[in-house]
Amino acid sequence: MREVILAEPGDFAEWRSAARSLLAGGVAPEDVSWRGGEDGASLFGDAVVAAPAGAVSLPRELLEIAERVICHRDPEVPARLYRIVWRAARDRQLLARTTDVEVDWLRKADKAIRRDVHKMHAFVRFRRLGEEGGRESFAAWFEPTHRILRLTAPFFQRRFYGMDWAIVTPDARAIWQGENLSYGPGGTKDEVPDSDIVEDQWRTYFGAIFNPARVKIDAMRAEMPRKYWKNLPEAQDIAPLLAGAEARVERMREAAVSLANPLTDKWRTRVPDELLLDDDVKTLGDVARAVDRCTRCPLYCNATQGVAGEGAKDARIMLVGEQPGDQEDLQGRPFVGPAGQVLNEVLEEAGLDRARLFLTNAVKHFKFEPRGKRRLHQNPTTGEIDICRWWLDKERAFVQPDLIVTLGASALRGVTGKSASIKSMRRSVHELEGGGKLVATIHPSFLLRLPDRERAAAERKAFVADLICARKLAA
Ligand code: URA
Repeated sequence: MREVILAEPGDFAEWRSAARSLLAGGVAPEDVSWRGGEDGASLFGDAVVAAPAGAVSLPRELLEIAERVICHRDPEVPARLYRIVWRAARDRQLLARTTDVEVDWLRKADKAIRRDVHKMHAFVRFRRLGEEGGRESFAAWFEPTHRILRLTAPFFQRRFYGMDWAIVTPDARAIWQGENLSYGPGGTKDEVPDSDIVEDQWRTYFGAIFNPARVKIDAMRAEMPRKYWKNLPEAQDIAPLLAGAEARVERMREAAVSLANPLTDKWRTRVPDELLLDDDVKTLGDVARAVDRCTRCPLYCNATQGVAGEGAKDARIMLVGEQPGDQEDLQGRPFVGPAGQVLNEVLEEAGLDRARLFLTNAVKHFKFEPRGKRRLHQNPTTGEIDICRWWLDKERAFVQPDLIVTLGASALRGVTGKSASIKSMRRSVHELEGGGKLVATIHPSFLLRLPDRERAAAERKAFVADLICARKLAA
């Protein structure tokens, strides 16, 4: 019997190196015993055999799954995975055998990990530690079900590239300081401060958007399981808000005020039925489905649906607006309300065919304030824009436009990730990080808000000029 002691359970590289040696040495699964090391040292005993390069080839999909599944806490996982790779090395179709008990186990374990990853992406909350040398630093405490820190850290690296942060979990910690992502030992909750200003903002926000008439407690618990509540700033308000929900609904009834547009009441309540995992997003159609189920920020709670971009899949020009308005929220399409009408007119004047463009928004859910039976548009915060950039980036990656035209300041933030005034960016062409050009201009609804006719005509002319410039650049 060969004994393999893994120094760091959940470390794919370590397991893979041991598995490769064993496979190359022809050691059958029943002749290997796998253990987690208490002393932090890997030990392959006499199982180590220098593996000739490319000696055993395995399906790529299996390696990808194994990289996730090795994070599962079940101590049998290293042995089970080795049994599967041993069989797969002899049976290339193994993964397609859906009735096979081990393949079934593998798929279920993979699903559990992917769900855990999804939850971690959604529920990590950073606390601000301070600022040094112009860079802000943050820390978060999180207790994932499985050992998924290495799987999730690159996501936070992409999302919070511009700040220093650490995510501490009981098993390990990830540290980002602007240059490289490093890992260290696990820690405890008290290493991370309990609250900060960002937290208070979350709580105020959650309280403000909480709609007592729409609460579905079971669905809410399923989507945001209790175990995550203790680290979510907004969660400490859930119980009091729920407790007061009935009374608030009653008061609303008495005051004969309807919180949402009555039209939206026939639409489903905004608690997504099933998550679409990030890895399942492979086309623009998937983006649209996933956007509609997105719960990355709380804006989904009150909106009718998520509104993804639409237009030519290979458009040379992408137009980015702020967020869907009332009509867009109801119809599920961007720029179909009053601002969309203005946009259609100026596009025509500029000689641009809407059908050949891709139109989308920086934020995919309608943010509004209920006022009687009306829903009044509210500007998204930079936090909401930054969270939603995940989807904008996906759309950009699929469409790969040569040129992006940002309509208004929120769009500019969504595309560049930086706050800049339109005035400072307008009338010049900017190179975008990662390729492509950017032209910044006003939002069409700005024209709708101008009371002075002459000023409105002048602004409209300048808007058309910006779009003509975009057309020429893309040509
Ligand atoms: N305003 C926007 O920014 N986008 C829309 O889709 C509609 C109005």
